[in-house]
Amino acid sequence: MDVNQPILGGIALRGSGSAIPSQQLTNGQLGLRVDTSDEWIRSRTGIASRRVLGPGETLTSLSKNACSRALEMADWDPESIDLILMATSTPDDLFGSAPKVQSLIGAKNAVAFDLTAACSGFIFSLVTASQFLRNGSMKRALVIGADQLSSWVDWDDRRTCVLFGDGAGAIALEKTSKNEDGLIGFQLKSDGTRGDYLNLNQANNYIPLVTDNSYQEGRFSPIQMNGQEVYKFAVREVPGILQQLLRETSTDSDNIDWLLLHQANQRILDAVADRLKIPHSKVLSNLENYGNTSAATIPLMLDEAVRNGQIKSGNLIASSGFGAGLSWGAVLIKWQGPLGFNK
Ligand code: UT7
Repeated sequence: MDVNQPILGGIALRGSGSAIPSQQLTNGQLGLRVDTSDEWIRSRTGIASRRVLGPGETLTSLSKNACSRALEMADWDPESIDLILMATSTPDDLFGSAPKVQSLIGAKNAVAFDLTAACSGFIFSLVTASQFLRNGSMKRALVIGADQLSSWVDWDDRRTCVLFGDGAGAIALEKTSKNEDGLIGFQLKSDGTRGDYLNLNQANNYIPLVTDNSYQEGRFSPIQMNGQEVYKFAVREVPGILQQLLRETSTDSDNIDWLLLHQANQRILDAVADRLKIPHSKVLSNLENYGNTSAATIPLMLDEAVRNGQIKSGNLIASSGFGAGLSWGAVLIKWQGPLGFNK
């Protein structure tokens, strides 16, 4: 991948929004279902509770609410949006959920489609959307990260069910001049040879059709994960890709205002920060409340930090997503949302 090709224009991050399900599931409640404890989950992961979509709420409705909030912050008319990119591995509709979100927010001029890259999906989508804006073919985009892993974990497998939750986040991106570019740099990587460490595969379930023919029924097996291998992958590759990005953009890690990592495990966040010599006070974390919401963790955290005043306009953010594929990616971005937006 040649990340040094000429850049025609830039992008600016103008707004953020997020939405979470109303149902909360604490570690204590999980202990009623599987042999686990609040002490084990907190000490190994940093997670205390997560949100789970229940009756009357859908991933599409969460995504719609996240987009509406991002539009409100950016102060944009939905009809001014050219592109809606929805990072998700768990759409309500396997044909894609982004067009439904488009219709719900009234973005009738936007092309809308889904992008699947598991927990790296938001970073991959942010970079993908930025290409359309940088080359001048589009002016405004909404990038969504949304997942409902509660539908796909085995709730009787304590090794995985304690980790995940549901949520949605969105950011509003705008074409800008090259000089004002808020995407300072990026790196994206995949390694399918290690894909078996974390997957959500189609179930191997062939059903007789007619004569000698059969078909595979559309059904997926629950999430399978080799936790220790994924952990080792994360603490090795995430510092590596961020170091590469800092080198290529001639950025000193002291100049980073915030480290915004995929919220998978507090121990991973701390280990990556230590490797990069970034103080823990600059590490954004909300996984205590939401667990790992896959493609949603980064925009959910970003939106929370913007609204509580931690992230301020002009702040430099190093962000990295990582997970199934295996896939991992990193961006160095500048937040350019409205000054003083704090609600
Ligand atoms: O988006 C990326 C998604 N995935 C990840 O980020 C996962 C990365 N991996 C991790 O975060 C960690 O590997 C885990 C949190 C999943 C597990 O932590 P660990 O320190 O690697 O634990 P372990 O798998 O080595 O298991 C230690 C013990 C085992 O018992 P024995 O064999 O030592 O008797 C497990 O059976 O802990 C047991 N265990 C549990 N005990 C209570 C595993 N899960 C649980 C549980 N409650 N929920």
